[in-house]
Amino acid sequence: MTPVEPPLALLAELTHRCPLQCPYCSNPLEMDRAAAELDTATWQRVFDEAARLGVLHVHFSGGEPAARKDLEALVAHCAGLGLYTNLITSAVLIDRARLQGLAKVGLNHVQISVQGSEPANADRIGGYAGGHARKIEVAGFVREAGLPLTLNAVMHRQNLDELDEVIALAVRLGARRLEVAHVQYYGWALRNRAALMPTRAQLEKATATVEAARERLKGSLVIDYVVPDYYARRPKACMGGWGRRFLNISPSGDVLPCHAASTLPGMTFQSVKAHSLRDIWYGSEAFERFRGTGWMPEPCRSCDQREVDWGGCRCQAFALTGALDAVDPACEFSDHHAELVASAERESGNAPPDFIYRRIGAAAPV
Ligand code: FES
Repeated sequence: MTPVEPPLALLAELTHRCPLQCPYCSNPLEMDRAAAELDTATWQRVFDEAARLGVLHVHFSGGEPAARKDLEALVAHCAGLGLYTNLITSAVLIDRARLQGLAKVGLNHVQISVQGSEPANADRIGGYAGGHARKIEVAGFVREAGLPLTLNAVMHRQNLDELDEVIALAVRLGARRLEVAHVQYYGWALRNRAALMPTRAQLEKATATVEAARERLKGSLVIDYVVPDYYARRPKACMGGWGRRFLNISPSGDVLPCHAASTLPGMTFQSVKAHSLRDIWYGSEAFERFRGTGWMPEPCRSCDQREVDWGGCRCQAFALTGALDAVDPACEFSDHHAELVASAERESGNAPPDFIYRRIGAAAPV
């Protein structure tokens, strides 16, 4: 058995509050209320523990992390510990002064999400009027403050035709990196799957667009590309493998191996309020449950890709099959794979239904 290594990065979901309402949000359908959020001192203590544990990167996320008034204090604390800090933001709550303040206390990097390149469509997808224009403005503040910028574009059937323009936008804004991420279907995105699923032709065109842009922009813009599982033959190594590299902390302090883990039934996730990060990472049942390859069913267990994809995504496997340790249906060897591909082809071929926007109480139970 390979020894458990320390985590590389921690995703701090400071809050589930967010002015945007993206229908593919990675937050759970049941979101934490503001009153349940960890306070400043607890987050700072958690970052102390993370640094001692060996974490190198802290990603401030949410919801919208800038909804927390203590964001500056948290960034400053991490900077003091020598941690690399990245702010993942919708940008709409940030102005020039706040951005400069964050840079001053030691923020290292900013990642701004965009919902497309065309303002009216982007604002419709995010459910926030004027949001796109605000993002463009804040991207300028990021560059002005001398911070590296990544643009994060979540792509789907309702904005894929804008991909060329999204790439041009990243270049115009001086981003060093662009993440072109096709929607991954769990949580809100699974609820909105038919409204988001691209056709195979759309996907192929997008892949060709990214490949050409990578060649054209070599040396000036790095483009990361995440394909949708439903048209893949092998699953992705979700989170780089369960309990291998990353940990997520929810606004109320639960420590999770991935952002959707709370959807898995029968699993208990320990809280930073009662346990140290070290004990949770190395000793908790939840982190052990799908770590490594010992838990895998056949054919995963004897597959030569088992230490490449680490069994894919547990949350997706459960959502689509009802079994926690099922083969991820994104894998062509899953009994559910053909059904998965057929659902993608069927849904993407029909007119898209209306979005169910991310709002507390908006997602009807299945
Ligand atoms: Fe939980 Fe993939 S999102 S394992």
